[in-house]
Amino acid sequence: MNVLMLSPGFPVEMSYFTQALAKIGARVIGVGEQPVAAFSEDTRKALSAYVQVKSLVDEKGVIDEIRREVIGRGHALDRIECLWEPFIILAAQLREAFGVPGMDVATALPFRDKEAMKQKLDAAGIRTPRHAKCSSEKESRAAAERIGYPLIIKPIAGAGSADTHRCDDAKQFDAALAATRHVPVVSVEEFIDGEEFTFDTITVDNVPRFYNVCWYRPRPLIQRQHEWISPQTIALRDPDAPRLKSGVKMGFDVIRALEYPYGFTHMEWFLKPDGEAVFGEIGGRVPGARTSDLMNFATDSDVYVGWAQAVCFGRVDQPFPRKYNAASIFKRAQGQGHIQRITGVEGFLARYGQYVAAMELLPVGAPRRNWKQTLISDGIVIVRHQDLGSCCEIADHVGTDIQLYAG
Ligand SMILES: Nc1ncnc2c1ncn2[C@@H]1O[C@H](COP(=O)(O)OP(=O)(O)O)[C@@H](O)[C@H]1O
Ligand SMILES: [Mg+2]
Repeated sequence: MNVLMLSPGFPVEMSYFTQALAKIGARVIGVGEQPVAAFSEDTRKALSAYVQVKSLVDEKGVIDEIRREVIGRGHALDRIECLWEPFIILAAQLREAFGVPGMDVATALPFRDKEAMKQKLDAAGIRTPRHAKCSSEKESRAAAERIGYPLIIKPIAGAGSADTHRCDDAKQFDAALAATRHVPVVSVEEFIDGEEFTFDTITVDNVPRFYNVCWYRPRPLIQRQHEWISPQTIALRDPDAPRLKSGVKMGFDVIRALEYPYGFTHMEWFLKPDGEAVFGEIGGRVPGARTSDLMNFATDSDVYVGWAQAVCFGRVDQPFPRKYNAASIFKRAQGQGHIQRITGVEGFLARYGQYVAAMELLPVGAPRRNWKQTLISDGIVIVRHQDLGSCCEIADHVGTDIQLYAG
């Protein structure tokens, strides 16, 4: 089985998927912008061949180069894979260009365009927030009139809650319109109050073969508004708990409606206080911010290998036992500049060390990261516990007890 993998070592998470393909016996041909020397040794070993292209953004150039350097050198392609959001469409174009099975462009587009996504799901009877795609202030105002307050205004092709504003009245809406003037196309939506969860799957033939539910504490929009918060993502040990049923059912329905042939999916959904599940968004890719590792810690299993099996064999043999609730906690330093000191780690480890699966804080001397641009911010701690209440309690202690100071 020959698998062409786009950007096989960047971002760094991609290298684990590349290695999993090799581990289950695939010949992996990498295509990316970085020199192969930039990848880890394990990633280089996993690649049977590598084609460095000038730019993955130049779609025609990439197709030509693959035709010359891969097909022209006698490599037949059985699969073309990409788990990195910006190049999902390119992978679909390549499949069409070279007659390789998997997701085509028409199927991939709704995963990238939040309006096309919601239209397809509305047609399938999925509960989405009332929504409108707006390309001018006039259209936005008309949509606000129709939808009513509270509402949300956000980029149609957004990420990481950037340029996303909740508006409770006309005055806040005016301010949000002014603040989003640089965004060419926005979505104006009914604001859904409630908790936010994910539904992440490894799917084959429109049916999830493994699924996971993460709970965001607090809601992502709140995480982004307050720098002092240490955001948490908790992979839940029991995604079949009664209160999550409506969301899990929606997840299965959404994947069927979007006709996802195989691979990872990452959906976000809202749970209203009355128990109704409302669709948020879905990506045809793996969740970010180390959530694949989080799922591995929750199940003592290997989602990378599970994904590779789905890609190459059309089945998932990994067992994925539901062992733990696993929480990742993202730390943001206080102050600006370089990390000066870190407090509370020893005391925390003395009390909770047995529950810690990973701790990667920036070292003293390192420059702070931009907390609005990367969810990982200045460090990540992963803890796990069989009991959800205990897991939350330990995660909260990471938030309060461990502090990084910059100056
Ligand atoms: N209709 C909505 N109702 C309530 N909150 C919303 C709504 N749309 C977005 N949000 C908030 O904004 C966050 C980011 O929006 P989302 O659609 O997930 O875009 P992205 O994650 O790509 O930036 C969500 O996690 C949620 O907290
Ligand atoms: Mg989101």
